Amino acid sequence: MIRVTGETAHRIDRRIYGQFVEHLGRGVYEGLWVGEESDIPNKNGLRSDAIAALRHIRVPLVRWPGGCFADDYAWMNGVGPERRAMVNTNWGDVIDPSTFGTHEFFELLHQLDAEAYVNGNVGSGTVAEMRDWIEYMTLAAGTPMADLRARHGREQPFRVAYFGVGNESWGCGGNMTALHYANLYRQYQTYVRDYGDDHIAKVACGADSDDYQWTEVLMARAATMMDGLSVHYYTRPTGQWDTKGSATDFDERDWTATVEQARRMDEILTRHRRIMDRFDPAQRISLIVDEWGTWYDRDPQYPRGSLYQQSTVRDAVTAALTLNIFHRHGARVRMANIAQMVNVLQAMLLTDGPALVTTPTYHVFDLYTDHHDADAVQTQGAAGDRPGRIGLDGDYTVSRTGDDYAISVTNTSPRQSLAASFELPGAVRDVVRAQFVEAARITSLNTFADPGQVRLADLTGCRVSGSRLEFELPPHSVATVRVTVGS
Ligand code: AHR
Repeated sequence: MIRVTGETAHRIDRRIYGQFVEHLGRGVYEGLWVGEESDIPNKNGLRSDAIAALRHIRVPLVRWPGGCFADDYAWMNGVGPERRAMVNTNWGDVIDPSTFGTHEFFELLHQLDAEAYVNGNVGSGTVAEMRDWIEYMTLAAGTPMADLRARHGREQPFRVAYFGVGNESWGCGGNMTALHYANLYRQYQTYVRDYGDDHIAKVACGADSDDYQWTEVLMARAATMMDGLSVHYYTRPTGQWDTKGSATDFDERDWTATVEQARRMDEILTRHRRIMDRFDPAQRISLIVDEWGTWYDRDPQYPRGSLYQQSTVRDAVTAALTLNIFHRHGARVRMANIAQMVNVLQAMLLTDGPALVTTPTYHVFDLYTDHHDADAVQTQGAAGDRPGRIGLDGDYTVSRTGDDYAISVTNTSPRQSLAASFELPGAVRDVVRAQFVEAARITSLNTFADPGQVRLADLTGCRVSGSRLEFELPPHSVATVRVTVGS
C-alpha cells in the first residue's frame, strides 16, 4: 500500500511535456506543414488534424528548428516572400525549401497555444546572425531587423520564451570540447538580449547523456550566464548506437532491456543535478532534457536520415517511466522535449499523406495532462519498495491540483497484472478519471489501416473505501486515476 502524505515536494512544470520539431524527414513538411494550397485540410498551411490532436494533449512548448539542423540553419533563408532553399546535410541531403520558417513556426505556436523554444546556430553561424535573429523576432520597432519583420507582415514582436545557444556542440553542432564551447557560449549569449519586458531564458548546450565532465565545465565557466543547461538521452534496447534494436520486432527479453535502458534516465539526472547543486545550490538554473525518447534501428522501407519509426505499447510504457522520473526530479528539471512531435523517432502522431494516426505515446501524454503544473506530493511505499516503485514491475507518480489527486501507474510486466493500493490524505469523494492504455500484446501498434490497436480505455473496477483506493492494472500498460479528496 502506498501512503500519499499530501505534502508538496515541488511543482511539476507543464513544460516537461514539451515537444521537439526539427527539419528532418517528414517532421515539418507533411507532418505539420502542408501549405495553403494543399488538399489536406489546413489553416494557414498547417494541417488541421495534427493541430487538433496536439491541442488535445495540451502541448505547452515546442523546440525548433533542431537538433543538428539548428547548427546549419540560416534563418534569413526562411523569412520574406523570396525563400532560399538549403541542403539538409544532416538528414539525407534532402533540399529544404525554407517555406516553413520563423513566421510559420510562430503560426504553429499560435494555433497550439504553446510557447517558443528557438534553438540558435553556434556551429556554423556567426554571432551577428544570432543577434539579428533575436532582434528580428523580439524587438518592437525602429531598427532594420524589426522593420524587416514588419515588412514581412508581422508588426508585433514574437515572444521567445527560451533560446538555445547551439545544439549538441560536442557532436553535430561543431565537435567542440567542453571548454571551447563554454567560451563560445559566454560570447554568443551576450547578444541574446532582452528587448522590452519579456525575458528570454538562455539555454546552454548540455551533455550527451552521462558525460558529467561537460556539465562540470559548463557550470564552472558559465553558470551565471545561463537560465538552463540541457542534456540529451535516448533509450535504445541494446544501449548501443550501431545496432539499437527493432521498433516492432521484439520479444520479452528486448522489452525488459528497453525498460531498463529507459530507467537509466534517473541516474543520469541524479548525477548531473549533483554537479549543478554544487555551483547553484538555490536551483536557479533548470536542467532541461531537450531531447529524449526511444530510438530504434532504421526500417529499410523508409529513407535514410528520415528517422521515421513505428511505436508500440512498449513506447507508451517507457514514456510513462521517463515522465515519472521527470516528476521526481521536478525541483531542477523544469522542461523536457520528446523527440519528436510528428513522424520522427518517438512521435505523438504519424502521417501518410492525408491519413493521420495517434501513437501509444500520444495516449500517455493524454493521460498525463492531469499532472500539468500540479504539485508533486510526497508518498511512502511499502517496506522494501524503491521510491516511486510498486514491487518489481510497478512504477507510479502522484500529483495534486486543488482537491484532486492524479495517480499514474505503469505496469512494466509483459505478462502479469499489477495490484495498486493507495491511501489518500482524506476520504475519496469522487473518481473523476480512470483510464488506461489498452493493448492486446507487447508489440501492439497503431497503423493507418487499424488505428485503434493501442487506445485509451476506461479502467473499470476501481474500489474506493474511505481514503483507500485500489485497482488492478493489466500487464504492459499505463493508467491515470484522478480522484477528488475531502469532506
Ligand atoms: O532527434 C534527432 C537528432 O538527435 C537531433 O538532431 C540531434 O540533436 C540528436 O543527435
